[in-house]
Formats: sequence, C-alpha cells, structure tokens
Amino acid sequence: MSKKINDIFSMIYEKYDLYNRLMSFGIDTIWRKQTAKEVLKKPGDISVLDVATGTGDLAICIYKMAKKENRNVKIIGMDFNKKMLGVAVDKAHGTTIKFELGDALKMKYANNSFDVVTSAFALRNLDSLDEFAHEVKRVLKSGGNFAFVDMSSPKSNHGKLLFNLYSKFMILAGSIIYKDAYKWLAYSISHIDDTNLPFIMKKMGFRNVKTKRLLSDIAYIVYGTK
Ligand SMILES: C[S@@+](CC[C@H](N)C(=O)[O-])C[C@H]1O[C@@H](n2cnc3c(N)ncnc32)[C@H](O)[C@@H]1O
Repeated sequence: MSKKINDIFSMIYEKYDLYNRLMSFGIDTIWRKQTAKEVLKKPGDISVLDVATGTGDLAICIYKMAKKENRNVKIIGMDFNKKMLGVAVDKAHGTTIKFELGDALKMKYANNSFDVVTSAFALRNLDSLDEFAHEVKRVLKSGGNFAFVDMSSPKSNHGKLLFNLYSKFMILAGSIIYKDAYKWLAYSISHIDDTNLPFIMKKMGFRNVKTKRLLSDIAYIVYGTK
C-alpha cells in the first residue's frame, strides 16, 4: 500500500493544502492547534518529531505556538514523500524546523531521541499501526509523550450525518481534478477504526492513553506517555 499512498501524494501535493482548507472548511487548522496545545503541555524546551508531516502544517503550528510562549522547541518533520516535503520546506522558511525524508514504519532515529512524537491525519495511510506504535515507543524518551490527530468514523447520528455530507463534498471537490486520489482518501476515512489505535498504544505499554473526541466525533486526538 505504501507505494500507492506515495503516488497519491505525489499527484496531489500542490493542491493538498488548498483542498484541506476547503474540504474541512478550515476546521483542520483548529484540530492541529488543539493537538499542538496538547504537545506543549510538556514543559520546558522539547524536541518534537512530527511523523508523516506532509506539507508541515502541524510542525509549523507547534513551532509558532511555542514561539509565542517564548519556548525553545526543536522540531523535525518527517515524511516519505519528497514533493509534500518540498512544499513544507517552502512554507517553513524562516523557522528552525528541519524536514527529513523517512519512513514512519522504519524510523532512522536512535532510541530515546525525542520528548514528543506527533502525527496528523496520516495514520490511516500506514500499512501497520503496530509497527508504527513500536517505532514511536523506540524513538521516544522515557516519559516522552505522543499526540496523534486523525479523522474518525462517528458513532452518533448527528456525527454520521456530518460525516456523510463531508465525504460526499470531499469527493465532489476533489474529483474536479484528482478523482481517484480523493475517492481513495474518503474511502480510507470511512474505514477508520478509532478504537484500534488507543488499544494498540496501551498494548505497547504506553501510560495514560486518552482519546479526545472533536466535533461530533468526526476527528479525535489520541495522546499518552511512554
Ligand atoms: C494526509 S497527509 C497528512 C499530512 C500532514 N500531517 C497534515 O497534517 O496535513 C498523509 C501524509 O502521510 C505520508 N505518509 C504516508 N505513509 C507514510 C510512511 N509510511 N512514512 C512516512 N510518511 C508517510 C504521506 O506522504 C502524506 O504526506
């Protein structure tokens, strides 16, 4: 699946941010801010690895929020798609964020390297959440935190209605240019099992694993501690 995912993002990288904003009505930026807030609850100067950083939005959001708090935060944004990273590098010009090529399932970082590992809207693209969780545990320092935000398939009727409208709109808007890519993205959201990740993180031995549900369940943040 990784090759298919990489090809999809190589196709849509130029329009990815625009479609994100249009298709979430800008709400994705609020969800990233909520995730950044969660991350910055860890006090002091921290090192952050943003996995599958794409065009870098979460990494940039954490950087800006930390700056406002006068905090020194070392951030690496990692992704396996060169073109998405190219956009990230341009957007993050003037910051100290480093962007690096890499695979979320085989990270090139040493054990116990980071205070925080984050990821936004990428988990459903990964071939194995178990391998991902294993890598997160390996590269996090003891006492380090993770925070992941992604879409979920809502349980409430209200949430289901919102979600159906959203995925129809997503396909329609995306299909103007990249029909198959956005059809796949909408499909991947509808097949999310949002109880799976917290289960895996607990099984992997993380402590205080919690889920924060966002906007009638259509997204969620999972966070916890090594
Ligand atoms: C939906 S985008 C999310 C990008 C960004 N995190 C955001 O908040 O917009 C998914 C990203 O995951 C990346 N990705 C998927 N599988 C990956 C893997 N195994 N290793 C590294 N990056 C991966 C893709 O290249 C893509 O940039």
